[in-house]
Amino acid sequence: MIVVPGGRGQLGSDLAAASPEVRALSSAELDVTDPAAVAEAVVAADAVINCAAYTAVDAAETDEDRAFQVNAVGPGLLAAACAERGVPFVHVSTDYVFAGDANRPYEPTDPTGPKTAYGRTKLAGEERVLAAGGWVVRTAWVYGATGNNFVKTMARLESERDTVSVVDDQRGSPTWSADLAAGLLQLLEIRPAQRLLHATGGGDTTWFGFTRAIFEELGADPARVLPCTTADFPRPAPRPAYSVLSGKAWADAGLTPLPAWRDALARFARLHLR
Ligand SMILES: NC(=O)c1ccc[n+]([C@@H]2O[C@H](COP(=O)([O-])OP(=O)(O)OC[C@H]3O[C@@H](n4cnc5c(N)ncnc54)[C@H](OP(=O)(O)O)[C@@H]3O)[C@@H](O)[C@H]2O)c1
Repeated sequence: MIVVPGGRGQLGSDLAAASPEVRALSSAELDVTDPAAVAEAVVAADAVINCAAYTAVDAAETDEDRAFQVNAVGPGLLAAACAERGVPFVHVSTDYVFAGDANRPYEPTDPTGPKTAYGRTKLAGEERVLAAGGWVVRTAWVYGATGNNFVKTMARLESERDTVSVVDDQRGSPTWSADLAAGLLQLLEIRPAQRLLHATGGGDTTWFGFTRAIFEELGADPARVLPCTTADFPRPAPRPAYSVLSGKAWADAGLTPLPAWRDALARFARLHLR
């Protein structure tokens, strides 16, 4: 049995769909900040993949203590409980641990430098997991069938507005949670020596480019998507300008690269957008 805390989120739901061995636990069934509940949850586990997270990037700016509990303390508890029982533990992290000012894809070994409360708390979680011998997989720009995400928001706006303005100066790699789920399950099979890895959809684009592709998938005119800049949309938490994560270490570890982001979007759209 593969226990998945945060099992009702985007990624957790796709892990549950990907394998009958997955036991996806909601936040009500397992609060990862509760040490006794964590200890109990791992007792019968053959492996644990942690999808629980405080993912509200803007809210975390004024709620860092709570974000730290969920993103750092919880993963630390899970990793320690798994280490004690010899249970493999995989944790998911984020491009937000980097400063976002690079001009080539980030390698796992590159220096971190989070600019947001969310990024700081996720980095603290990584440190605890790695210290306990778990795997950390950083990903970015995740969307899926469950919950709200960028793809669903843009699909809704397509039906409501003539034009949509989207930032064209932030670059990253859209990642379908179903593809990432398959990659995490493969990681558990291979159990590579390298403990810190990156996994995103292949290739990269901007939010503007991503939205044009979403419009294409909807059969809408992509010219209705207009480019704008980050300065046009100020947010409480600054967004990284460059979030592209290198998949080299992932491939070198014998893991299958995630499919190209554009192909993934087309497969997602066939199942969930039309
Ligand atoms: N979404 C992205 O673009 C993105 C990008 C990079 C990395 N990531 C990382 O990828 C992972 C999965 O993200 P996701 O998109 O699947 O997130 P998500 O849809 O927001 O799901 C997170 C889940 O964690 C649960 N949770 C929150 N607090 C909890 C607690 N104390 N105990 C147990 N569960 C708790 C939430 O349940 P409730 O709703 O009931 O609170 C929710 O179901 C996270 O580690 C995230 O940091 C995501």
